[in-house]
Amino acid sequence: MNQSFVNVQTELPGPKAKELLKRRHDIVPDAVSYGIPTFVDKADGAILQDVDGNRFIDFAGAIGCINVGHRHPTVVKALHDQVDRYLHTGFNVMMYEPYIEFAEKIAALAPGSFDKKVMFLNSGAEAIENAVKIARKHTKKQAIVSFSGGFHGRTLMTMSLTGKVKPYKYEYGPFAPEVYHAAYPYHYRKPKSMSEAEYSQYLLDEFEKFFISEVAPDNVAAVLMEPVQGESGFIIPDKTFVQGVAAICKKHGILLIADEIQTGFGRTGKYFAMEHFGIEPDFITISKSMGAGLPISGVIGRKEMMDTANAGELGGTYCGSPLGCSAGIAVLEVMEKERLNERAEVVGDKVMTKFKHMYNRFDAIGEVRGLGAMCAIEFVEDRSSKKPAPQLAAQTLKEARKRGVIALKAGVYDNVVRLLMPLVITDEQLEEGLDILEEAVEVVLMKNKTKQV
Ligand SMILES: Cc1ncc(COP(=O)(O)O)c(C=O)c1O
Repeated sequence: MNQSFVNVQTELPGPKAKELLKRRHDIVPDAVSYGIPTFVDKADGAILQDVDGNRFIDFAGAIGCINVGHRHPTVVKALHDQVDRYLHTGFNVMMYEPYIEFAEKIAALAPGSFDKKVMFLNSGAEAIENAVKIARKHTKKQAIVSFSGGFHGRTLMTMSLTGKVKPYKYEYGPFAPEVYHAAYPYHYRKPKSMSEAEYSQYLLDEFEKFFISEVAPDNVAAVLMEPVQGESGFIIPDKTFVQGVAAICKKHGILLIADEIQTGFGRTGKYFAMEHFGIEPDFITISKSMGAGLPISGVIGRKEMMDTANAGELGGTYCGSPLGCSAGIAVLEVMEKERLNERAEVVGDKVMTKFKHMYNRFDAIGEVRGLGAMCAIEFVEDRSSKKPAPQLAAQTLKEARKRGVIALKAGVYDNVVRLLMPLVITDEQLEEGLDILEEAVEVVLMKNKTKQV
C-alpha cells in the first residue's frame, strides 16, 4: 500500500491544541472565528502539521492564499534575502525596488491592451476601498453597484458592498451610502421555467432596468464584480452575463472593477479569471495568493484613472511592504517556472472527475461546479426540492478533517464545500485527499439517511 500523507492520531483538538484553544478563548474574541479546532506547527507544500503532530492534506490554502504552496523554497529564499537587507522604510518615505519590479510584472500580466499603473496595499478590503476611491475621484460620481451574494471584505465600505447579510453585516449598520446591489446569476437556482439562455438574458434586462429603478447611471462611478463569487459558493456566471454587464457599463460610462482577490493568481487556470470571459476591466483588485502568505494586496488600473488622485491621497504606512513585494515577485517566478496555470487545469479536472463520480452516487449533492481549480459541491436535502442542506456541508468538513483533510465551507446558504488547495499539490496527495473527502461525504450521507442516486 502507498504511504499515506495524512496522519491524524488524536481527537481534534489534541491535548496541546486543547490548551491553546482554552487560552485563545480567554483572550481572543469569538468573532475572530476559526474553521479547524487546532493550531499549526509546520506547513509545507500542501501539507499542514498541527501542534499535536497530526498531519493534514490542505484543501483550504488559507482561503485561497497559498496557490504556490506553503513555504515554497523560492518564496522562502526571497524573504530571507529581503530580511537580510531591510524590513520597512515606508514606500512613502524611502522607496525600494521590489515594489516597482512587482508592479511592472503584474501590469504586464493583467488583461487590457491599455497602459496600466499598480499600487499596493495590505489586505483585500483595502484594495477594494482604494479602487472605489480612485473610481470616484476619476469619475466625480459617488454610487457603486455590486452584486447580491458578493463578498468584498469587513471594513465599512467593503461590508456595505458585500451582498450577504449574515455573518458579515448583521447589526453592523448603518452602512456606507450610495451602494446598490444588483442580481448575480446563480444558474443552479434559476427559475425552472427559464432556459439557461433566457435566465441570463433576464438578468441582463434586470441589470439595465436597475439603472432606471435603483440609481441613475450618471451617478454611478463603478460596478464591482467577482468573476466567480467565492464566499457565496463558487458561483460561476455565464459569459453572456459578464460581457453584457461590461457592455452596459461601457454604454453608461461606468467603470468596471473586477474583484480577483480569491480568483486571481492561477486559481481558475489563468492569472486573472476575467480572462475566461474576455473582459478587460478598468480596475482589478488582487490579494491572497499574490503574496503566498504575506499580507499584500493591490489595485491594477488604467493609467489615466490611477493618475487622477493627488499625492498623499492614497497609500498607507505598511502598504506594499518590502517583504510582501519580494514574496510576490517570487510567486510570479514560481507560477511561470512551474506552469501553475496549466497545473490548475489539471488539478481542476481531477477534482471535477471525482466530484462527478460523487454526484452520480449521492442525491444530496445538488450540483458540482468548477472553473480551473476553483471547485465546489453544493449540498441539498434532495435534488428535486434543491432545499439547501448546510448541515451536510458542515458535517462533511468535520468528517474530512477527522480523517486528515482540511476544506472550507461557503455558499449563500452555507451549504457548499469548496476547495482551494495549493496548486503545487502532488497527484498522489490530491488523490488521497479526494478519496478521504468522498469517504467523509459517504459517512455523512449514510448517517443522515439521504437517498443514493
Ligand atoms: C473576493 C474577495 N474580496 C475581498 C476579500 C477581502 O479580503 P481581506 O479579507 O484580505 O480583506 C475577500 C476575502 O475573502 C474575497 O474573497
